[in-house]
Amino acid sequence: MSFKYPLLEDAFSKADLKSAIKVIKSKRLTMSIKTKEFEKKFSKFFKTKYCLMLNSGSSANLLAFFALINPLKKNNLKQGDECLIPALCWSTSLWPIIQAGLKPKFIDVDLKTFSPSIEIIKKNITKKTKAIMLINVLGNCSDIDKIRNFARKRNIYLVEDNCESLGSIYRNKYLGTYGDFSTFSFYYSHQLTAGEGGMIVCKNKSDYLILKSLRAHGWDREISNKKNTFNFINQGFNLRPLDISAAIALSQLKRLKKMVSVRKSNRDRIVSSLKKSKKWNNQFSFFEANKFLSPSWFSIPLLLNKRFSKKKNLYLKKLEKYKIETRPIISGNFVNQPSIKLHKLKFKKKDFKNSQEIEDRGFFIGLPTKKISNKDLKRLTTCLLDIK
Ligand SMILES: Cc1ncc(COP(=O)(O)O)c(C=O)c1O
Repeated sequence: MSFKYPLLEDAFSKADLKSAIKVIKSKRLTMSIKTKEFEKKFSKFFKTKYCLMLNSGSSANLLAFFALINPLKKNNLKQGDECLIPALCWSTSLWPIIQAGLKPKFIDVDLKTFSPSIEIIKKNITKKTKAIMLINVLGNCSDIDKIRNFARKRNIYLVEDNCESLGSIYRNKYLGTYGDFSTFSFYYSHQLTAGEGGMIVCKNKSDYLILKSLRAHGWDREISNKKNTFNFINQGFNLRPLDISAAIALSQLKRLKKMVSVRKSNRDRIVSSLKKSKKWNNQFSFFEANKFLSPSWFSIPLLLNKRFSKKKNLYLKKLEKYKIETRPIISGNFVNQPSIKLHKLKFKKKDFKNSQEIEDRGFFIGLPTKKISNKDLKRLTTCLLDIK
């Protein structure tokens, strides 16, 4: 077969599909017992009590901010309160802040972890800062415990977008359990996939009940003991997952550790093969895990050496010809996106030097969940190093 190195490969096993078909045959497609079972198993696996499954990671981010402003929440945020967010972000890490009526303040990221360091956070915090949206990028993270402790002391809420880092363990604790609200995505290319799906994790029962009401129409179903099942205690959305997704996710969770370890081993082999090659000439630098992290890698991000910055587009076109798919790191420096201009968000471009550098020199390639063959490894190495 001819060589191809796609961003996404087929990550479903026969058992995953069998579980999905079983749900379809039961004709109970909507959120039901499988979702509950998955929430329970997820909670046990990640050692975090309050977990609620949703239809996407974006919905999880949306609910985090709508819970923070909800009148049922004690010390809720008020319209116009400021929330820090890295300029290197995903669209739906940002927009829920604005949709909830809060004010985003973009901050830069560290070049090593692609996430804001505690120093960057401290430099940007003001009396107006009431929340921080922190993104754990592609399996990595910054000093999240320090950021959490710093935020806690100042009564600043921490939302942890862990949509790209499911399975990473920082100082013996899974990422996605550090925030007041933490979010996960089960989209196709992610470490655990249900095709589509997400999870929101919080720290106490009252937040959990708010999230539960927001997930389904503002209903009090399964929240209070009222007999009247058409009781609406809150505003709401419909962000319920399908039980089909929950069944697939349950099946994947059983082999998550194996998938994480295969991905890690593939990454190590690829990095080592590149560095050992005769053609290795520091063409790029690699994304190294935080020293306290046991990473669950999403992909292989590469930063082209400065001497090749201007050749990046030509190089990526060449890789495309070699059938190696690439994409930007998250979505680059997000302040450059047309949607920012459309919604007239304010910022000073010079404040995001590192985010811009990651956009200018960075890209990523996929990381398969099945062992890469020696033949493909050789071909990948030769193609990736073909830049002068
Ligand atoms: C950092 C980050 N947050 C949120 C999301 C949204 O997740 P979903 O695609 O499940 O809506 C993504 C998507 O990849 C992401 O990379």
